[in-house]
Amino acid sequence: MQFRTIEWTGDALLLLNQRLLPGRETVRRYSGAEGVAGAIRTMVVRGAPAIGVAAAFGLVLAVQSANRKDRPWRRAFGAAAEMLGGTRPTAVNLFWAIERMRKTASALPDDPAKAARRLEREAVAILEEDLEANRAMGAHGAKLLPANASVLTHCNAGALATAGYGTALGVIRAAVAAGKKIHVYVDETRPLLQGARLTAWELSKDKIQCTLITDNMAAKLLGDGKIDAAIVGADRIARNGDVANKIGTYGVAVLCRVHKVPFYVAAPRSTIDPAIRSGKEIPIEERDGREVTHLMGRRVAPAGVRVYNPSFDVTPARYVSAIVTEKGVLTPPLARGIRALFR
Ligand code: MRU
Repeated sequence: MQFRTIEWTGDALLLLNQRLLPGRETVRRYSGAEGVAGAIRTMVVRGAPAIGVAAAFGLVLAVQSANRKDRPWRRAFGAAAEMLGGTRPTAVNLFWAIERMRKTASALPDDPAKAARRLEREAVAILEEDLEANRAMGAHGAKLLPANASVLTHCNAGALATAGYGTALGVIRAAVAAGKKIHVYVDETRPLLQGARLTAWELSKDKIQCTLITDNMAAKLLGDGKIDAAIVGADRIARNGDVANKIGTYGVAVLCRVHKVPFYVAAPRSTIDPAIRSGKEIPIEERDGREVTHLMGRRVAPAGVRVYNPSFDVTPARYVSAIVTEKGVLTPPLARGIRALFR
């Protein structure tokens, strides 16, 4: 990989600023939890696993900073956990990482230096485990793709959305590394263009063949028989296998079903929310209408027009051909596989 999405220095978090890609590759340095929360909210860092990792380091920074000011670390930790948890509601990895850090914190003695060190180790483990999970998903998922395939993807579920390597793009990377000839069709992904700005950028950097399309072109490609499989990431998967992912994913899944093309989801176990029965219970983030009325800062709709801007949709489990996890590939009935994963 020729770039790092997230890097920990020991007392600061470095984030590649995804708002500016592909035009500018700049890294921002964060030394406090407030900054990290702002980075998640404004999508300097985005993608379900990546925001979980960032939040874990945000908590470490909160404790380190309380210790420097001689303030009680537990209070700082609690306040930071609340703030980070209030940034984005849909991706469960964020809450999963905060909860994991909270559990670690609750078992710690009061000694502030020891607490900071132990929490730092936990955040580093979350980052490293995510990388490992992505590699494992790649190995499992690559087998699903034909030796010569055109694969459609939506949004960015790549190295930029994770600690590295990626989930859906990790599967594609692994297939290419195994010698398969994969051509990726990249949905532009309105309104924030994660496909055009991020997926096309990281695939091009890795010299993986790709073609960019606008979202409304996918139906034509599928209708013309040009797509062999679709693979996407996920922000939260319910117990029954319903999948929340970037807005537009549901449409891709339905199109795949109509055209008898497999629709795969690649996601680590930390993206599955066993507390949620079905997709109906998944909170869907709604973002500022300016993301729809403006394109790269320029107004493209009349002033004052009413806007609906849900950031995610839910694909019902029945449209999902398989979920690739680090533990293996779950096939329908997905609910059964998910149950086994959490047993
Ligand atoms: O709003 P974003 O860019 O954070 O949305 C990201 C996605 O929907 C990704 O597909 C998902 O988080 C999976 S990333 C491995």
